[in-house]
Amino acid sequence: MRYGHFDDERREYVIDRPDTPLPWINYLGTEQYFGIVSNTAGGYSFYRDARLRRLTRYRYNNVPFDVGGRYVYVRDDVTGDFWSPAWQPTRSPLDDYECRHGLSYTRIAAARNGIRAETLFFVPLGETLEVWRVRITNERDTTAELSLFSSVEFCLWDAQDDATNFQRNFSTGQVEVVDGVIYHKTEYRERRDHFAYFACSEPLAGFDTQRETFLGAYRGWDRPAAVERGAAFDSVAHGWAPIGSHHVRLGLAPGETREVVFVLGYAENPRTDKFDPPGSQTLNKRNVRPVIERWLRPETVAGGFAALGASWDRLLGGLRVTTPDPHTDRMVNVWNAYQCMVTFNLSRSASFYESGIGRGMGFRDSNQDLLGFVHMIPERARERILDIAATQMATGGAYHQYQPLTKRGNDDIGAGFNDDPLWLVLGVSAYVKETGDRTILDEPVPFDNDPGSEAPLYEHLRRSLRYSQERLGPHRLPLIGRADWNDCLNLNCFSDTPGEPFQTTENVSGGAAESVFIAGQFVFAAKELAALAELQRMPGDAAEYRAAAEKMTGAIVEHGWDGAWFRRAYDFRGHPIGSSENDEGQIFIEPQGMCVLAGVGHGDGLAARALRSVTERLATAHGIVLQQPAYAGYRIELGEISSYPPGYKENAGIFCHTNPWIMIAEAMMNNGDRAFDYYRRINPSMREAISELHRCEPYVYAQMIAGPDAPTHGEAKNSWLTGTAAWNFVAITQWILGIRPELTGLRLDPVLPADWTGFQATRAFRGATYEITVRKVAGTVGRVSYLVVDGEHVDGTMVPSAAPGAVVRVEAVIEG
Ligand code: BGC
Ligand code: NOJ
Repeated sequence: MRYGHFDDERREYVIDRPDTPLPWINYLGTEQYFGIVSNTAGGYSFYRDARLRRLTRYRYNNVPFDVGGRYVYVRDDVTGDFWSPAWQPTRSPLDDYECRHGLSYTRIAAARNGIRAETLFFVPLGETLEVWRVRITNERDTTAELSLFSSVEFCLWDAQDDATNFQRNFSTGQVEVVDGVIYHKTEYRERRDHFAYFACSEPLAGFDTQRETFLGAYRGWDRPAAVERGAAFDSVAHGWAPIGSHHVRLGLAPGETREVVFVLGYAENPRTDKFDPPGSQTLNKRNVRPVIERWLRPETVAGGFAALGASWDRLLGGLRVTTPDPHTDRMVNVWNAYQCMVTFNLSRSASFYESGIGRGMGFRDSNQDLLGFVHMIPERARERILDIAATQMATGGAYHQYQPLTKRGNDDIGAGFNDDPLWLVLGVSAYVKETGDRTILDEPVPFDNDPGSEAPLYEHLRRSLRYSQERLGPHRLPLIGRADWNDCLNLNCFSDTPGEPFQTTENVSGGAAESVFIAGQFVFAAKELAALAELQRMPGDAAEYRAAAEKMTGAIVEHGWDGAWFRRAYDFRGHPIGSSENDEGQIFIEPQGMCVLAGVGHGDGLAARALRSVTERLATAHGIVLQQPAYAGYRIELGEISSYPPGYKENAGIFCHTNPWIMIAEAMMNNGDRAFDYYRRINPSMREAISELHRCEPYVYAQMIAGPDAPTHGEAKNSWLTGTAAWNFVAITQWILGIRPELTGLRLDPVLPADWTGFQATRAFRGATYEITVRKVAGTVGRVSYLVVDGEHVDGTMVPSAAPGAVVRVEAVIEG
């Protein structure tokens, strides 16, 4: 069953009923100001940091979880009937409803009793504000006397404090209302540097800024007293809960449409204002007033919206494909790329599954997010790499996370995830492959943000590898530390007293547990760094890293191979994990993917055998599960993984992030059919038809789909902010379609399903544009036989590089 459809032409997902299985959201903003918006206008906004600069309030564990949002009420001033054109919060029956989630904008439209209201939400480029453009049409044949009320509830900036520190916060709220603009200035007196504003394009009939006055005692957002009586109270908040609400009266002739613009924004005072005399309450509205006035004008709004669309044309224009599969086309051309951008911007901070107060930017996560993003805005990828690298410690180790506002590493959830440093090598190498910009390797970057400790980025990468090399366990495999990619595989946990849970953290770095996954990742990273070393003209280093990769490969083959698949790890006592010797958790997906990706076992049949085991033991119709058999009960010596009920998350859920590793591995092994089959199983657009089971948005990947051990097998959770986005983008575009940036140029090496006859693509690469056509006889399998580049025959699969600005026609022929 579907709850909407894709409008491919307009790059929108159209939801045609408000009661989706879960709130289906979109993101507003691409730079500094962001918002989450659900299909019923729920969600919140923030400036840069979802915790410390939260503009609007969100209540955790609310039901449904998108309650609290950008709400508009329409009231018929003759009958007193009022309703919400986004359905929430009044949930009045609507004559029709449609929500269109587009690229960084959302448009929600509905009609009731002959009045149609459509709201467009977006954040203009270069601004720290959001625009709501409400268009209201009288479809009756008589005049309509209407009231329009806007509403937002302000968060007192620090979202964590806002949700907990009531004794203080009920007494801090402050607003100012000047010339119809509501200024939320709580904390202004203390910090003296930031405030929010909420403005409306129409003359006001009234306003409210105190929540309880607007709503009335014992009422919720579904029936505000002000809306019910048809008149605002002009309340000015002192303490309690500041909100912003404008009341506008509109008389609409039959057929008439009116446009009302609301602008909600964030502003900072110039530095000098920080030294206002103590007690001064003056906000500096001088700077912000012209911005407000500009964005309240319909022409500015129209122009800003068009500019946003044009920017997405540019971003997505760099790679466009036409394949025999519409699900592939719409994911690659629009939605997967879009999700990569959102995930890159937000890391794992703010969604309805990530609280915005918990996790900062992940070291591991951000490096992987780069993979799907770098071709769109390489400059921002560069900046991100340098930010991440500056949090690396001199030992080569990493803080697991850093705060976007301060860019400092934090130890909130502990350090010692021993895979972290290696992701930096993979992120940097992806950047250099895309851009050819090797100057980044010479860029001076401090360790742990200490300016006295600068070293070239290349030196950071060397230390990343050394970090693993200096931490090998009894089997010469890398120590896992607190965990590797699988945060929940905590193998240095143990209890001296049986039955008594004890999670050691001190023991982490000294713990003897080893990871075959990190071993594979090390081989991968060492080979990448060897290639970068060659680029740096450091043949000694290159040879050293190749030798190190080989040595680690030896350790994997000797101690990491279980007979029919790669083992997962060794626990701190030296017992294998992910082995046929175990009763549960015999085979894990991660080392099968990572080792094959790294080139381990290609020549000797191990890779092919491991992939066969994945098909036989882990693949399901809804995707490939993380491990089997699931852990039935809690095992202290494995940590968090066994705390999940079977079939969820890391305990045998379909952890979508790992599936593309297997797709890539299958492509490397020449199995186009299997690679593409796995791709389709978790492709959200393919799963749209089973939305009642899948439940999450059909236009973006979710982190997890419940595995066969769960009663809800096939149900997705944790949509949007997941490494799944970047890795699937890499799997489909670089390995299945085979358009792959390498250090020396663009390779064209597709591994296609047998029944395809080819595909077409446009790819911008290092300033030139490549118009690609791949031809293959249906029914055949095989790799590219030769290329024809601007009419010239070229052997092999490397596309000769063209000058910036050139448009090159590339034909690839697969003879089968
Ligand atoms: C989850 C992981 C996640 C980790 C972050 C765990 O509870 O299962 O998927 O990465 O928390 O700290
Ligand atoms: C989600 C985290 O964001 C990611 O870093 C981790 O690798 C996976 N969970 C697996 O535990």
